[in-house]
Amino acid sequence: MELFEAMQIRRSIRHYKPTHVEPEKIRRLLEAAFLSPSGRNIRPWHFIVIDDRNLLDQLANAKSGARPLKTAPLAIVIAADEDTTDIWIEDSAIAAEHIHLAATDLGLGSCWVQIRVRHTIAEEMSAEKYVQQLLGLPPSFRITCIIAIGYPAETKHPHEPEIEWNKVSYNSYGKALVI
Ligand SMILES: Cc1cc2nc3c(=O)[nH]c(=O)nc-3n(C[C@H](O)[C@H](O)[C@H](O)COP(=O)(O)O)c2cc1C
Repeated sequence: MELFEAMQIRRSIRHYKPTHVEPEKIRRLLEAAFLSPSGRNIRPWHFIVIDDRNLLDQLANAKSGARPLKTAPLAIVIAADEDTTDIWIEDSAIAAEHIHLAATDLGLGSCWVQIRVRHTIAEEMSAEKYVQQLLGLPPSFRITCIIAIGYPAETKHPHEPEIEWNKVSYNSYGKALVI
């Protein structure tokens, strides 16, 4: 699939079929993740691949907007060691998007589930701490998000490319770019 086609087709899928994702596709998703650039090439990531239904159900309780994990047969938790770099958020976000686009290319649906700066439904702890404890991650392994992955049980229209010209300037803020 061509890159622009994948960017248009990629949508947030929140309902999945129970069909398992093939090991070869999981491998490709991880290859995509590790193809990500990172600041100073520190590569601070740790990816936790989860297909255990019980764990996925517990992750779905990490916060209110974690609904996609209720049906997803697979999730990849995006963690990064903050002791190695101060820009682990950026590094993690890029890897997450690589996985998102690779999933589309592989015919899979996916959805970003935000974990950083979110709280559990009861608000008794951060969603990040909840996930760290559940998965046994050391405290320095910070979690930006979880990518829910699986075969879609819903259909969404591709996006059409559209430039929001009011959000684009030319040479200085507010000056229109005409091309
Ligand atoms: C940083 C970020 C955080 C997001 N957090 C969540 C989330 O916690 N739960 C969820 O269901 N979707 C989440 N999404 C998905 C967005 O809601 C979605 O990308 C947006 O509505 C556009 O829809 P589309 O992805 O289908 O194009 C998140 C997306 C991004 C980029």
